[in-house]
Amino acid sequence: MEAAAVRVDLGERSYDVWVGEGLLEKASGFIPAPKGSAVAVITDENVGELYLETLERGLDPLDLEVLVESVAPGEGSKDASVAVGLLERFARRGLKRSDMVVALGGGVVGDLAGFVASVYGRGMRVVQVPTTLMAQVDSSIGGKTAVNLPQAKNLVGTFHQPAAVICDVALLATLPTGVFRSGLAEVAKYGFLDPEGPAASWKGRADDKADAAVAVRSCAAAKAGFVVEDEFDMKGVRAFLNYGHTLGHALEAAGGYATYTHGEAVAIGMVYAAIVSEEAGIAAEGLSGRHRERLSGLGLPVKPAEPRPAFLELLGPMSLDKKVTRGLTMVLLEAEGRPRIEAGLDRDMLALCYERLLGEA
Ligand SMILES: NC(=O)c1ccc[n+]([C@@H]2O[C@H](COP(=O)([O-])OP(=O)(O)OC[C@H]3O[C@@H](n4cnc5c(N)ncnc54)[C@H](O)[C@@H]3O)[C@@H](O)[C@H]2O)c1
Ligand SMILES: [Zn+2]
Repeated sequence: MEAAAVRVDLGERSYDVWVGEGLLEKASGFIPAPKGSAVAVITDENVGELYLETLERGLDPLDLEVLVESVAPGEGSKDASVAVGLLERFARRGLKRSDMVVALGGGVVGDLAGFVASVYGRGMRVVQVPTTLMAQVDSSIGGKTAVNLPQAKNLVGTFHQPAAVICDVALLATLPTGVFRSGLAEVAKYGFLDPEGPAASWKGRADDKADAAVAVRSCAAAKAGFVVEDEFDMKGVRAFLNYGHTLGHALEAAGGYATYTHGEAVAIGMVYAAIVSEEAGIAAEGLSGRHRERLSGLGLPVKPAEPRPAFLELLGPMSLDKKVTRGLTMVLLEAEGRPRIEAGLDRDMLALCYERLLGEA
């Protein structure tokens, strides 16, 4: 299988997202010529154990000094204190701003490494090598970096576009089922936004590598399109990517980020958004049924599990969702492929839709 590139066209910050199978061992071929003499590879312990050696072989032709930093797996490592620890080790090793960071891992490693690269020496180049489906179709593209503070998730961050993104779909085969499924919800989202694209019909099997590459590439192209139009998330253009995220984020927060993976919460949130689209008279009946069919076919939940949060408990976080600007605003669908932003949605109607979400099989 040939690697195919999606170009993210941002003037002097432009870069390619490479998608294919077996790209890790050929990594040097996808990285723009290094300016420095060292590379810091940031990974987590799970991913490092599986893929670090192959990546190091792939980087070998660049003839760089390699520094490896491995963090504990999980959201806990996306932390300001972990970032400071990495920065101090960079300094002790004498890394220069002309050196490069490579992020080998899921969204946690990508956000952390991107952040560290963006601030060390006022900015080093970072190459993203996303290893989860979520990271390949979403987080590695677009330059948003972040670490968490005890007060809130993603509160400290930067915009720092990568120099290249290398998506090796062969790596998806070792993902734990739940982690893989979480990414499938975002794939399904791209499919609802573009029903003609490959993401809408992908069966979601990691072992079908050719199909996975086609689906991942199409999602990467969709994400790149929104980033090119609205690089700094100022124009409201990226908002369609938030489909399903209003209730999704509220469910995640209500469960203390422990009940659902992000993708599971978004899957439920998309069914909810489809019900709201029907109840608001924006979409014809049947949209939510098709959502349920598609999402359960991918092994994703389509309604909250017991104990179910009460609607009032969710309304606060829904209204606080940072993407909501005027009262209760949601991304709705007129039909698959026809998103629109609807403001001023009525609370009683939204509560009724939540009842429908809980009640329907
Ligand atoms: N920057 C953005 O635009 C953006 C967008 C979406 C999500 N995010 C962030 O992404 C993070 C979630 O990322 P995630 O879902 O990739 O989770 P993750 O990075 O925590 O990875 C999930 C688990 O899978 C393991 N893993 C990763 N790749 C593997 C592989 N190939 N084989 C086996 N195990 C593997 C990891 O060690 C980890 O235990 C969140 O912090 C979220 O805020 C950022
Ligand atoms: Zn998401």
